Amino acid sequence: MSHHELHGEVYYPSEQVVQNANVQNIDELYQWAYEHPLEFWEQRAKEYEWYSKWDKVLDDSNKPFFKWFTNAQVNIVHNALDRHQDTERKNKIAYYWEGEPGDSREITYGELYGEVNQFANVLKSLGVVKGDRVTIYMGRIPEIVVAMLACAKLGAIHSVVFGGFSVPALAGRIDDSQSKVLITQDGNWLNGKVIELKKIADEAVAQSPSIEHVVVVKRVGNNVNWNAARDVWYHEAMETASAECETEKLDAETPLYILYTSGSTGKPKAILHTHGGYMVGTATTLKYVFDIQENDRWWCAADPGWVTGHSYIVYAPLILGATSFMYEGAPMFPAPDRWWSLIDKYKLTILYTAPTAIRAFMRQGEAHPAKHDLSSLRLLGSVGEPINPEAWRWYFKHIGHEKCPIMDTWWQTETGAFMITPVPALPLKPGSGTKPFFTYEADVVNEVGESVAANEEGYLVLKRPWPSMLRTLYGDDERYERLYWGKYPGMYLAGDSARRDEDGYFWIIGRVDDVLNVSGHRLGTAEVESALVSNAAVAEAAVIGLPHEIKGQGIHAFVLLRAGYQESEQLEKDLVQHVANVLSPIAKPEKIYFMAKLPKTRSGKIMRRVLKARAQGLPEGDTSTLEE
Ligand code: WT7
Repeated sequence: MSHHELHGEVYYPSEQVVQNANVQNIDELYQWAYEHPLEFWEQRAKEYEWYSKWDKVLDDSNKPFFKWFTNAQVNIVHNALDRHQDTERKNKIAYYWEGEPGDSREITYGELYGEVNQFANVLKSLGVVKGDRVTIYMGRIPEIVVAMLACAKLGAIHSVVFGGFSVPALAGRIDDSQSKVLITQDGNWLNGKVIELKKIADEAVAQSPSIEHVVVVKRVGNNVNWNAARDVWYHEAMETASAECETEKLDAETPLYILYTSGSTGKPKAILHTHGGYMVGTATTLKYVFDIQENDRWWCAADPGWVTGHSYIVYAPLILGATSFMYEGAPMFPAPDRWWSLIDKYKLTILYTAPTAIRAFMRQGEAHPAKHDLSSLRLLGSVGEPINPEAWRWYFKHIGHEKCPIMDTWWQTETGAFMITPVPALPLKPGSGTKPFFTYEADVVNEVGESVAANEEGYLVLKRPWPSMLRTLYGDDERYERLYWGKYPGMYLAGDSARRDEDGYFWIIGRVDDVLNVSGHRLGTAEVESALVSNAAVAEAAVIGLPHEIKGQGIHAFVLLRAGYQESEQLEKDLVQHVANVLSPIAKPEKIYFMAKLPKTRSGKIMRRVLKARAQGLPEGDTSTLEE
């Protein structure tokens, strides 16, 4: 294939990578798909099984409430599991799993199908029906996949809450969704210690009256409190549950799940995804971008508690009939070469992880990966934040041995699937997510929504609907419309700033709203601030993100104390711990600054921008609205 001359540092794919790729002749395909978006998606949809066909690929008569594959009947679980049962995939491994202590499991498509059916029957016996919400609060064990699929099979809506969230954060999400059932586990291994998930769940449920039953997977064997009227052991309920369960036939637009994510207010947003479009969008992107082939062993090292895990650990790989690997524990446990030993042991072919992990490994040095045979790898991926070119080159050289292209995928909880991403045959530039996926139109615009010139910074927008898009914020259509489509009519506002270079490659700069990105985890400044002010010592708080070598961003908190409280090192420690207790250990501030005053506008809004500039010794910009 010939490429016109590209600018900057460019890595061209090898002949072999191009020949093996699922998508060939990409230049023509980009062009054709861009001009025929609905034909493209209709063709993709036909690769999967539907109980009955759609009238229309896209219904855009009620913008921005788009519908895809209208009036079709489908269930994502039919495509993830049922349809493989009459094929040789029935005996294929769906997941290789390894626990942090070194124990392991292999689960075939046939076994997973049976376990999901059984667990769907357990949920039914607990009163779960189509449309009910079920909260899942677990670690990286195979049962989290079973729990999600069992909900979807019945048409119930799962709401997975990341296992690193603390009691009030979990309780708030249960309450907002009015979940009937909570699925958790006794404990979770992390760095050789037990995180007591059941204990946290008990405290959260005490504040969440909607929960009728708690299902508990026994993973660790730690002691748990037991409420016999409410709690159910997973293994006991499964013993008597039938392995036959019909998959609900659903309208394509039936809600599949909600997933809470942070925005600019203290209250997380419940992103809603649906069965049909999400199924087509996630499976297509995984197939085209990570080039999934029958004999691949795919490792998406994210957590099922975030969207990356929903789309690319659970749904898309199963729909494609792929073999995945899942590892329970901490990346550096018991030693910094754990991941590399896993790649060698399981002969994994594709690794998809986050820049923060790459930087952490980089700091440990290349001797650790060098101890292991990584030659099974053929592709690498990155997600969660912009990857700095230095980390990109390290990953390329020391993990991919200069033969594995790196797919830097830009997307969001809201988008459900990759949006700006390379495919293997596309030339790469370290630090750039390259181009919009087939059919998509992205742009960089100024304050009034006009495209800016090449290499100029602006707001990243998406100008066309896409099948795996969020449909709304659960229970709040108005907020959905205002937040994402309100600033520029007809354009989806991503909340990121970006620039596009002279070759049309996109470079993501970072969030432009009050959202922090700490180790690839999305947190709102307002959530951390409200965690701080829930402490008796704190009158007011303002939180900013500053560059951090490993985490990308670290949290810095400025607090005003209430009368009667004195600043001290102990109080700083207590406040950091308080944030961990009420929100999550991932939200712990790096530093707390005790202030006599916070910079505010005359209307009383804290100017975080000014705090940020001061902390970095940068010019403060326009401060004409500053109170004094
Ligand atoms: C935000 C979305 C989507 C999975 C994980 C995060 C940032 C994500 C990239 C990337 C630059 C990225 C953006 C985005 N982001 N991937 N490849 N390059 N930035 O999902 O928690 O919804 O966060 O993560 O800022 O808006 P999320």
